[in-house]
Amino acid sequence: MKFFLDTADIDEIKTLNDGGMVDGVTTNPSIIAKSGRDFKEVIKEISKIVTGPVSAEVTATDYATMIKEAEILRKLGDNIAIKLPLTFDGLKACKVLSSERTMTNVTLCFSPMQAVLAAKAGASFISPFVGRLDDISSDGMDLIAKIVQIYGNYDFTTEVLVASVRSPDHVLSSALIGADVVTIPTKILRQFYDHPLTKNGLDAFVADINKAGIKVL
Ligand code: G3P
Repeated sequence: MKFFLDTADIDEIKTLNDGGMVDGVTTNPSIIAKSGRDFKEVIKEISKIVTGPVSAEVTATDYATMIKEAEILRKLGDNIAIKLPLTFDGLKACKVLSSERTMTNVTLCFSPMQAVLAAKAGASFISPFVGRLDDISSDGMDLIAKIVQIYGNYDFTTEVLVASVRSPDHVLSSALIGADVVTIPTKILRQFYDHPLTKNGLDAFVADINKAGIKVL
C-alpha cells in the first residue's frame, strides 16, 4: 500500500519524506490556493523532494487547453502525474496523454462506472473522493470496494488512489479492501505514529531505564 501526502506544504512534505513515509504527493487547485505559492514553482519544488508521483491538476476544463497545460506541467519534473477531472474532456485528454506514456491521475470520481471509464482511458491513477460521498450520506468506502472488485475482474492497470480521506478509518478500510494508494492529509498520517498508548508505554520504559540506571553507551 502506498501513502501519498495530500498537501503542498513543503515543510510537512520534507519532514515526513525524511521519515520514509511518503510514496508520492497529490495536489489540487484548492490545495495550491491554500499554499499561497506559485503553482508551477511549488510543484517543481515538491517533485525534487519526493521521488514518487506528484499530481499537478490542470486548471482548464476544455480538452485542447488541458493538453496545452499538460505539455507545460509534465516538464516540471520526471515524476509529474497530470491530474484531470473525470469529465468527457478530461477522459479524452487522459486517453491522449496516456497513449504518450504521460502519467495521469483522473480525479473527482464518485461512481464505479466513472472509474471504469478512467481505466479504459488508460489512467495511471483513479481518485475516488470517499469523504465527499460520506458527506452526502453515501458510502465512500463501498465505492472503493466496488472499484477494486471491478478492476480485478479485468486487466485494468489503473491504480486505485483513495482520496478525500477524512479519518484514520478511511485509511484502514482502504488497506482492508486492497486499494493501491491512499492520499492522506498530514494530520491523519501523524495520528498513526503519535498513538497515545505508545507514548504512555515509552514514557514508562524511560522511567524504568532511568530508575534502574540501564545503560548502553
Ligand atoms: O485529494 C482530494 C482531496 O484533497 C479532497 O479532499 O476533504 O476537500 O474532499 P476534501
